[in-house]
Amino acid sequence: MKIAVINFSGNVGKSTIARHLLLPRIPGADLIAIESLNADEGQGQALRGRQFGELQEYVQTVDNVVVDIGASNVEELMAQMQRYRGSHEDFDAFVVPTVPALKQQQDTIATLIELSRIGVPASRLKLVFNMVETGVKVEQAFDPLLAFLKQQPIAKANLNCKLGENEIYGRIKGKKTDLASLASDPTDYKALIVQAKGVNEKLALAQKLATRRLACGVVPELDACFGALELRS
Ligand SMILES: Nc1ncnc2c1ncn2[C@@H]1O[C@H](COP(=O)(O)OP(=O)(O)OP(=O)(O)O)[C@@H](O)[C@H]1O
Ligand SMILES: [Mg+2]
Repeated sequence: MKIAVINFSGNVGKSTIARHLLLPRIPGADLIAIESLNADEGQGQALRGRQFGELQEYVQTVDNVVVDIGASNVEELMAQMQRYRGSHEDFDAFVVPTVPALKQQQDTIATLIELSRIGVPASRLKLVFNMVETGVKVEQAFDPLLAFLKQQPIAKANLNCKLGENEIYGRIKGKKTDLASLASDPTDYKALIVQAKGVNEKLALAQKLATRRLACGVVPELDACFGALELRS
């Protein structure tokens, strides 16, 4: 299974979804983050082109991969995919995370239009409704985007492909641990808290307990969202 996670918009949860939704559920998959392309801004087009060439070659050599495309590189990647005709076929699916803010929904529409224009069929273009607030319905929060798709069904919009706003993602940002291992951490934090001497030690343990509880809550949600994506190679 080869998946690209993409959106013109920054901060919609591309990296979060690549790391915590997709990577743990695609056995054997590597995560490739294309964030660094703009680190060498001065070197311009040629370098970027070469890196895209390398990415294409790499994707041929593996069976399973999740490619997380940082917002600053999406435009260039689209241009390269246009140039290397048919290269989008290397991916089984393009997962497009989106969030309720209007600007981000508009950027999401632009992303879908562009992917569709380079030839990605609706069956391989899948939305994930991210950061849905508790008690808010997806169809309400994403009305502009869904109304557009009703007119132009260029992507799959399954309302069950949703993730609620959850502070667990902020808590574990930058850490190597995955949510499933956090959720199954067998440590008896309550016993440790009782034994702990100082307040700071107790607090640190209490935070770990809280993180585990959040992880236990979010893993079934991620499983359901992944199932609803119906990814097939
Ligand atoms: N469902 C969620 N609930 C709460 N916070 C979230 C959720 N999804 C993502 N976030 C947070 O939102 C921020 C942006 O997420 P992320 O870095 O995954 O976005 P991105 O699309 O990869 O951004 P960029 O284009 O800059 O790479 C992060 O701080 C992340 O922890
Ligand atoms: Mg990112």
